[in-house]
Parts: sequence; C-alpha cells; structure tokens
Amino acid sequence: MLSDPNPPRRPVQVGPCTLIHGDALQCLPVQANVVITDPVWPNCPPGLLAGADGLQHGLLYGALAAMDGARTWVVILGFDSDPRWLNRAVPSNKPFIRTQSLPYAVPGYRGRLLGGDEIAYAFGAIPPGRGLIPGRVTTEVQPKSKRKVNHPCPRSPVHMAALVRWWSVDTDTVLDPFMGSGTTGIACVRGARRFIGIERDATHFATAVDRIRREVSQGRLL
Ligand SMILES: C[S@@+](CC[C@H](N)C(=O)[O-])C[C@H]1O[C@@H](n2cnc3c(N)ncnc32)[C@H](O)[C@@H]1O
Repeated sequence: MLSDPNPPRRPVQVGPCTLIHGDALQCLPVQANVVITDPVWPNCPPGLLAGADGLQHGLLYGALAAMDGARTWVVILGFDSDPRWLNRAVPSNKPFIRTQSLPYAVPGYRGRLLGGDEIAYAFGAIPPGRGLIPGRVTTEVQPKSKRKVNHPCPRSPVHMAALVRWWSVDTDTVLDPFMGSGTTGIACVRGARRFIGIERDATHFATAVDRIRREVSQGRLL
C-alpha cells in the first residue's frame, strides 16, 4: 500500500488554539461553528503558496463542503481577485449574506490599480444576537510594508479581529483551514474564542505556532 506523502500531524495546543500541520482536505471536518479564512486566491502567482496550481477553487470548495455543518463561512479575497471565482469555489447551499470591506489608511496598489483593501464575503447565517453588521470594518493604520511576518501575504490582525468579533459569538469555535502565519488564531486569542487552524506548509505552520504562542503569553502577562 502507498503511504500518504502528507499525513496530518498530531495537533499542537496553544491556549484556546488547536493547530494542525497538514492538508486541510485530509483533516476536515472538525467541530467548528464558523469558518473564517483567507484561502489561496485565484490570482495568486504560481509557486508563491502551496495550492497555487490553478485548482484553488477545488481546494476552497473541498474545505467548505467538508464544513457544511458550520453556521457561517467568511472568505477573504483581494480587491483585484475576480469575485466570479466564488461561484466555483463556494458550495451553493449556504446563502450569501453580504460583503465587508477591510480598509487600509495607507492604500496599496497593484500596477495601475490603487486600493489594496481586501473584501470579506459572508455566507450562511448571521450569528445569534447580532444587531446591525457593518459594511466596512476597522481601518488598519499600519502600512502593509511594515508587517514583519515570515509569510508572503499575512492579513492584518486588526481586520481579522473585527471579522472574528462580527461573525462569531463567544461560545463559538472558529476554524481557519488555510491558516498561513496564524493571524486568525491571534484574533481569536484576542477575542477569547476557541480556534482550530490548519496549515500545510511546515515553515508557515512553525511561524503560526510561534506567533500564537507569543500572543497567548503576552495576554497572560497583561
Ligand atoms: C493566503 S495564505 C493565508 C495567510 C494567512 N491569512 C495569514 O495571515 O498569514 C493561504 C495559506 O494556505 C496554505 N495552504 C495551501 N494549501 C493548503 C492545504 N491543502 N491545506 C492547508 N493549508 C494550505 C498555504 O500554505 C498558505 O499559507
């Protein structure tokens, strides 16, 4: 029998976070109420990230389909990612709720396109007890270039904290199946949510464990 080249490893527990080094498609489903994720974007340059092989839609589709039992899915894409891609990448059984803009005080640009904000797309059901949900979240004031994280495309902790706050309640467990450097986990530590993160790349997984450990110990100090 052929052995699996990428078997899921034993999870690492850091505070409220369960961190799994493995392929999301092999590790899911897990017990979580909300999926908040920044997947491999359709316009990710080939070779920049694991999974940037032209089949990114299948990767996200597989992860969300496995998490059919979650109440809400929130998917982040770039301002220049074609939203029509979501038709192939998001199973159609959960209704679309709304978009949220994730703005920066210092705009970035790509070629002649000025902006750099990301967009969150929410599907499924609004968390119980939530009132009005805004169309834009807290503005990140730190320029992207100042974010010193060992990952090619880390998200803003300010934006991730807002998404965790709006789309989950304090009894929820949040899942990020494409955890990268662990920003969603950091947001969950700050927002007092349980978190499950999965990352396939060994270097990015180690970065996530390290960043989340520091966040947990900083919280204890304070
Ligand atoms: C856009 S990045 C996420 C960045 C993250 N939001 C952060 O703040 O660092 C997507 C991540 O998905 C990971 N990935 C790609 N394929 C995967 C798979 N099959 N299972 C788990 N992780 C995967 C990549 O290695 C990459 O780190």
